[in-house]
Amino acid sequence: MKKISIIGAGNTGATAAHWLAERELADIVLLDVVEGMPQGKGLDLQQAMPIVGSDVEVIGTNDYSATKDSDIIIITAGIARKPGMSREDLLKTNAEIVGKAATESLKFSPQAMYIVLTNPLDTMAYLTLKMTRLSRERVIGQAGILDSARMRAFVAMETGVSLENIQCYVLGGHGDEMVPLTRHSNIAGIPLKEYLPADKLGAIVNRTRKGGGEIVNLLKTGSAYYAPSMACAQMAEAILKDKKLIVPCAAYMEGEYGLKDMFFGVPVMLGAGGMERIIEYQFDAEEKAMFDKSAASVRESHEALRSLIKF
Ligand code: NAI
Ligand code: 2OP
Repeated sequence: MKKISIIGAGNTGATAAHWLAERELADIVLLDVVEGMPQGKGLDLQQAMPIVGSDVEVIGTNDYSATKDSDIIIITAGIARKPGMSREDLLKTNAEIVGKAATESLKFSPQAMYIVLTNPLDTMAYLTLKMTRLSRERVIGQAGILDSARMRAFVAMETGVSLENIQCYVLGGHGDEMVPLTRHSNIAGIPLKEYLPADKLGAIVNRTRKGGGEIVNLLKTGSAYYAPSMACAQMAEAILKDKKLIVPCAAYMEGEYGLKDMFFGVPVMLGAGGMERIIEYQFDAEEKAMFDKSAASVRESHEALRSLIKF
């Protein structure tokens, strides 16, 4: 059985464990700083497995040695947004937490792939890559699958068409400047721009960009976790099963799309080698302008990190 360790057993971490264990994808270790909580959640999930019929082991721990020889490490440790907070407000606190999670887990699993979820996402993925010094194939940030799924859900709600017919692609940084691509998104092959009137499409794009905040405002005590954790599970599954799945993820850019030394949301191929390829779309002028604006905002966040930590 493969092994996945999830650092941070809060809402997203524990729910990721749930999705992964239910799919019998790997043995799961849930690690958190809070004593007892990951152990309790691990035991509870383990006791759900006889009912599900999934022969995986789920344990909780406060000790990194239990994560030894993980194939994948998912980092969700950190604080989540509260109403009125931007993802960038989280930077300083979460940089300390994620830096430690990355380096401590690497000591016990030097072969692992990293999936990063903690916000500000692009910058926490950048931090993980820099702290671990791993190759870029092995550090991937989750954002685009979630943002695209939100857009798909909104399109389905507007049109009444099956989600299976709806493909949406949201690229760029995981922030309000993200880039929903309406020309590349489609319903059964028909570009969204043709299927929906401009005002309806504009409203969907706007709601997608603010999708995380909408849920924060409703929950009041935390942020979304079902869809974000499912997105992590899809990434882990694609890697473990060598699926060659093309999905938008935050990847370390080495010249693609004209971007360097930064993480950014782009279509990537996920397989046994991790982030095996970056796929380059052709943009029109309007898309390019949105992409550049989002990249500038991520660069600013990376710069804020570099002012805190010297790599
Ligand atoms: P949560 O507060 O429910 O869970 C975070 C957990 O991290 C807590 O259990 C906490 O005890 C633990 N933790 C804190 N410091 C730690 C440390 N040093 N080592 C190990 N564990 C530690 O928060 P939630 O909802 O799970 O969100 C986690 C992070 O993911 C947040 O930063 C949030 O903004 C981000 N997020 C990112 C998304 C994305 O699409 N990239 C989507 C949803 C959340
Ligand atoms: C989200 O998009 C808060 O980043 C998190 O739900």
